[in-house]
Amino acid sequence: MALLEIKNLHVTLEDGTEIVKGVDLSVDLNQKHAMMGPNGSGKSTLAYALMGHPAYRISEGQILLAGEDVTELGADERAQRGLFLAFQYPHAIPGVTVTSFLRSAINAIRKARAGGEDDPIPIPQFRDELKDAMEQLKVSRELASRYVNDGFSGGERKRIEVLQLAMLKPRIAVLDETDTGLDIDALKIVAGGVNTLVGPDMGALLITHYQRILSYVEPDFVHVFTDGRIVAQGGPELAHTLEAEGYEAFAPAGVGGGEA
Ligand SMILES: Nc1ncnc2c1ncn2[C@@H]1O[C@H](COP(=O)(O)OP(=O)(O)OP(=O)(O)O)[C@@H](O)[C@H]1O
Ligand SMILES: [Mg+2]
Repeated sequence: MALLEIKNLHVTLEDGTEIVKGVDLSVDLNQKHAMMGPNGSGKSTLAYALMGHPAYRISEGQILLAGEDVTELGADERAQRGLFLAFQYPHAIPGVTVTSFLRSAINAIRKARAGGEDDPIPIPQFRDELKDAMEQLKVSRELASRYVNDGFSGGERKRIEVLQLAMLKPRIAVLDETDTGLDIDALKIVAGGVNTLVGPDMGALLITHYQRILSYVEPDFVHVFTDGRIVAQGGPELAHTLEAEGYEAFAPAGVGGGEA
């Protein structure tokens, strides 16, 4: 059994509209999965539901993490178990610096793992780990001392998100590339982070509608997502087929075919 198992997942909005219409997906350690699909097909909805966002209701199906059913757990409990959505803090957090945010997030996870007892990371250890990660990801001291996402450019935001990944060390990382304004440098940062971090301790699901990023991350598995469902799966070659043919070839019957 894979570390993350999604079984027949259906997700609805608060008004009852079904957006994700039965998804089966397994993501294991040491695996890079790419999910690609057109705008509005429900990819971000799937990501939010995975993380336990309260606006997205799981109406059917299950999410298993290391065999444990986490479908009913809150976002914090999922994070403590090693699930991480890279863009879960898209908004600025005024008054909280990147450094203090990272330390609080690490300590929250450590506390949960220690059964609710405070177990803060020793400051020298935190400082050393942060220094190494910042050097590796080329995050400046100035950026780390600013408030989270407060006036960050798209590329700076990405850098900090990958810094979070490196510091929080989740077991399954879900990266939702919603930002269409990414330049090639930001794409390379995300790709470099994924390539470095995915291994025996981490697996990743990279959600994108760019083919571009897949020139930098070679996925082990590609999933084509249209209208709330995975409609095709394959290896990296599938991304090239998409590049050449677009999503139309994969559209479910009755979709994209004009008037009935
Ligand atoms: N909170 C919400 N309230 C209302 N509609 C929503 C909400 N979240 C998602 N939707 C709708 O659900 C559909 C799927 O949206 P979603 O963001 O999951 O698509 P996506 O595949 O991530 O698209 P993109 O590639 O543009 O990021 C869209 O029609 C969107 O408007
Ligand atoms: Mg999206």
